[in-house]
Amino acid sequence: METWSLDSYTSYILPFLSLLLIVLWMVYRKESNTWTLQNCPVDLTGKTAVVTGANSGIGKAVCYELARRGAHVVLGCRNLTQGRKALEDIQKATGNKNLLLRELDLSSVASIRRFSQKLLVEEPHIHLLVNNAGICGLPYKTITSDGLELTFMTNYLGHFLLTNLLLEGLLSADSARVVNVTSFRHKYGIVDEQHLVGAGSPLLPQQCYDSTKLLLVLFTKELAQRLQGTGVTVNSVEPGIVKTGIMKNYTWLYRSIFCILSVFLKTAAQGAIPVLYLSLAEELHGISGKYFNSKCNLSLPVESARDPGVAHSLWNTSARLINLEKMIKKK
Ligand SMILES: NC(=O)c1ccc[n+]([C@@H]2O[C@H](COP(=O)([O-])OP(=O)(O)OC[C@H]3O[C@@H](n4cnc5c(N)ncnc54)[C@H](OP(=O)(O)O)[C@@H]3O)[C@@H](O)[C@H]2O)c1
Ligand SMILES: *[C@@H]1O[C@H](CO)[C@@H](O)[C@H](O)[C@H]1NC(C)=O
Ligand SMILES: *[C@@H]1O[C@H](CO)[C@@H](O)[C@H](O)[C@H]1NC(C)=O
Ligand SMILES: *[C@@H]1O[C@H](CO)[C@@H](O)[C@H](O)[C@H]1NC(C)=O
Ligand SMILES: *[C@@H]1O[C@H](CO)[C@@H](O)[C@H](O)[C@H]1NC(C)=O
Ligand SMILES: *[C@@H]1O[C@H](CO)[C@@H](O)[C@H](O)[C@H]1NC(C)=O
Repeated sequence: METWSLDSYTSYILPFLSLLLIVLWMVYRKESNTWTLQNCPVDLTGKTAVVTGANSGIGKAVCYELARRGAHVVLGCRNLTQGRKALEDIQKATGNKNLLLRELDLSSVASIRRFSQKLLVEEPHIHLLVNNAGICGLPYKTITSDGLELTFMTNYLGHFLLTNLLLEGLLSADSARVVNVTSFRHKYGIVDEQHLVGAGSPLLPQQCYDSTKLLLVLFTKELAQRLQGTGVTVNSVEPGIVKTGIMKNYTWLYRSIFCILSVFLKTAAQGAIPVLYLSLAEELHGISGKYFNSKCNLSLPVESARDPGVAHSLWNTSARLINLEKMIKKK
């Protein structure tokens, strides 16, 4: 006869708890996106898409799906070794032979110019630009050789320049989309144009990241207004909390916490869904200047991201800092 020992007790309780956890986990991960890739028939044969930060995480997952739909995908990566590895993975998985790897370091004005000049010759029509590259966890006031703040440059100003330099290609496609990958963290950001050059109030690394994402949302608004009626739309989207390499520049303590929590987080493929929604969904044709949350729903960004005066002034400052006018003329 079996007795009711602690052993048999745990042998029921443990599997039960594990099962419960698994179910909760599955429910959580489903997060019921109303939009699914399976229900979206869009084919991208003959279309050119450019993705920044394409070698890992969300950027790579986005490239994979675009390639699967036949697009000519340009992977903009700062490290060509890692970029080549991603390109080969995607090519192998999708059979798409129409992939192009190009060096692009968003922290460098010269690199962004080289990339854009070369690309516009090779690809006169650009149908989709996904501004995805991003870093976080670096100390504020890391200054680049251009005299600009590194996190602000990589996440915001570099994409501002890139988008403006590629505008010619976007405008010459019959319709084109710009998708800015921002973050729900933009809510905690502050707008201070001095930050772009590493001046102004001091910021913790997390605040620095949050603020760059806020500027990105503001940029989306102003650009959308400038492009009204051109057939080019720009929107920003938040991917949710996704298990990627994004934490790599944090201290080990933060990285371990993120690592422990990571079972509850979205995979890169899941995090790519809202980005793909903005890139593909037919119902978004003509929609511009909007912010979408990680459930693919139109939502309002934080109030400071909605002030047209602030957006306009930020545009002016950004253009001045990177000498935009001169750069477009020289092109
Ligand atoms: N993961 C999340 O929970 C989360 C949440 C909200 C928003 N986001 C946003 O999602 C986007 C993608 O991030 P992820 O989560 O996929 O992280 P990730 O795996 O670290 O991807 C970031 C990508 O950006 C690239 N990158 C960084 N600095 C660059 C530079 N100077 N020039 C060119 N490329 C550069 C990285 O290249 P290297 O490999 O060479 O570093 C990498 O390919 C980011 O904009 C991030 O802010 C992520
Ligand atoms: C690129 O990545 C590879 C592999 O991770 C690394 O060995 C190499 O040092 C990197 N190159 C640069 C220029 O950072
Ligand atoms: C995002 O959208 C804005 C327009 O609103 C555009 O100016 C910008 O280049 C896009 N990219 C980034 C990273 O902000
Ligand atoms: C961020 O971390 C990665 C991986 O550890 C490293 O290669 C990179 O140099 C770091 N970036 C900076 C600016 O410190
Ligand atoms: C998104 O919004 C639509 C329409 O407002 C709604 O039907 C849907 O349930 C929302 N999706 C989620 C996941 O909240
Ligand atoms: C932005 O720049 C334009 C032209 O240089 C100028 O007319 C306008 O007043 C500026 N706007 C702001 C808000 O600084």
